[in-house]
Amino acid sequence: MIIYFATGNKGKFHEVKTLASSYGIVVKQLDIKKVEIQSDSLEEISLYAVRDIYNKVISKGIDNVVVEDAGLFIEALRGFPGPYSSYVYKTIGVRGVLKLLEGVDNRKAFFKAVVVFKSSSLGERIFKGIVHGEIVEEPRGIYGFGFDPIFKPYGSDKTFAEMTVQEKNKFSHRSKAFTELFKWLKSMVSKT
Ligand code: IMP
Repeated sequence: MIIYFATGNKGKFHEVKTLASSYGIVVKQLDIKKVEIQSDSLEEISLYAVRDIYNKVISKGIDNVVVEDAGLFIEALRGFPGPYSSYVYKTIGVRGVLKLLEGVDNRKAFFKAVVVFKSSSLGERIFKGIVHGEIVEEPRGIYGFGFDPIFKPYGSDKTFAEMTVQEKNKFSHRSKAFTELFKWLKSMVSKT
């Protein structure tokens, strides 16, 4: 089974492709610009994006699309940057976020991923994944992308950027949401 993941983020794609291989699912990358509406809801952002991309690719004979929208929610900052994580990463970056947390004892944070699948035969379906952890004092590690060097999930001594893809997939918000998608796809295929 082949599914098409619309993302320009190579790190995300690599994580999802690695996870999918253990379910016998092939993931292809659709490097199409994802329209990101401004909203406080990752669900709303990804639903809008999946519909837009689906309408664009259906005429090219591609009949399924997956999009994912994710964000880092920091408790002491009342959930900031949340749905604005991509913009915050591009502007103030990892160092800027650490600066906002200078002298702050509460380092609790979580990543959330919302994955939306759409196809003509299976319709639209949303899957979510959350990983709780904390923001470390200094960036650590060389792997991954985005805020990986400053996020350490509970249950590990390593930040995401100190983990291989396989290790990150044992914890991450993305792997949780995509695992649900892959299990569901397998169950739907076995019914046909
Ligand atoms: P988007 O889902 O592509 O809009 O990305 C949101 C932003 O959140 C990314 O640009 C990253 O900065 C951050 N982000 C989302 N998931 C992760 C992750 O797994 N590790 C590190 N940063 C992430």
